[in-house]
Amino acid sequence: MALYSLSPKGLWHRLKTASQAQSLEPGNPALPKHVALIMDGNGRWARKRNLPRTSGHEAGLQKVREIAEECGRLGIPYLTLYAFSTENWKRPKAEVSFLMNLFYDSLKDVTTTLDEQEVRIDFLGIPDGLSPKLLNLIKEVQAQTAAHSRLTLNLAINYGGRNEILHAAKELMRAAARQEMDPEVLTEKQFAAYLFTAGQPDPDLLIRTSGEQRISNFLLWQTAYTELYFTDTLWPDFGPAELRAALVAYMKRSRRFGGIKKGRGK
Ligand code: FPP
Repeated sequence: MALYSLSPKGLWHRLKTASQAQSLEPGNPALPKHVALIMDGNGRWARKRNLPRTSGHEAGLQKVREIAEECGRLGIPYLTLYAFSTENWKRPKAEVSFLMNLFYDSLKDVTTTLDEQEVRIDFLGIPDGLSPKLLNLIKEVQAQTAAHSRLTLNLAINYGGRNEILHAAKELMRAAARQEMDPEVLTEKQFAAYLFTAGQPDPDLLIRTSGEQRISNFLLWQTAYTELYFTDTLWPDFGPAELRAALVAYMKRSRRFGGIKKGRGK
């Protein structure tokens, strides 16, 4: 129904309902339950300032803290960050080792404040290539935060979507060989339980910064019906205000999951 065909009272009600649905009140059920983020543009941010690429990653880490805090404040229960892909090993050795040290130091740092923040930290990815020192810390942080429930922060480190699906397929084939599962009755839900995100809801919203418009092997299974939001803002400039703009845009979308909008039946 067109807005101009409504009575002033009906129009007011409709506008009020729409603005409530898009409000950023903490806990608004219209907010996404799971936000995934491709944090891109650290290198370009640094280059624009004549700084080394590593300064861009440092500035990016500061935004990780701000965005995680904002999600916690808004009551968004899951946040997944693409920190290092299985393809990122192709970068110069010095940059890779800088990033690995940055992951280690920042995780060491957060272990002291995590209890107050009620953040559960989980990791998506494979151990191959990561140092035993970082892997031990990852295990420690996972165990230390396992009981926290305000925000689950998934860090995708050494993660690739195809690799994750392949890993799940191999596990399932092993289970079938042991006759512990029957391939004929395997469901999508059972398959998803073999992914690194087992037990978590699929992302409702995927944000990619820096103007690139691709998925880059991130959460390939889980993003089947995710809303995509691309912004030109470089990751080190992406703060809580930019996140809120993305959330408002998300709440204006009509999600149909392949169906039709309620009330639009034939
Ligand atoms: C992509 O920008 C960014 C990365 C590959 C690294 C992201 C890592 C951080 C922000 C640190 C996060 C730390 C933790 C603990 C989660 P790019 O380097 O590809 O930028 P460019 O495309 O401009 O070169």
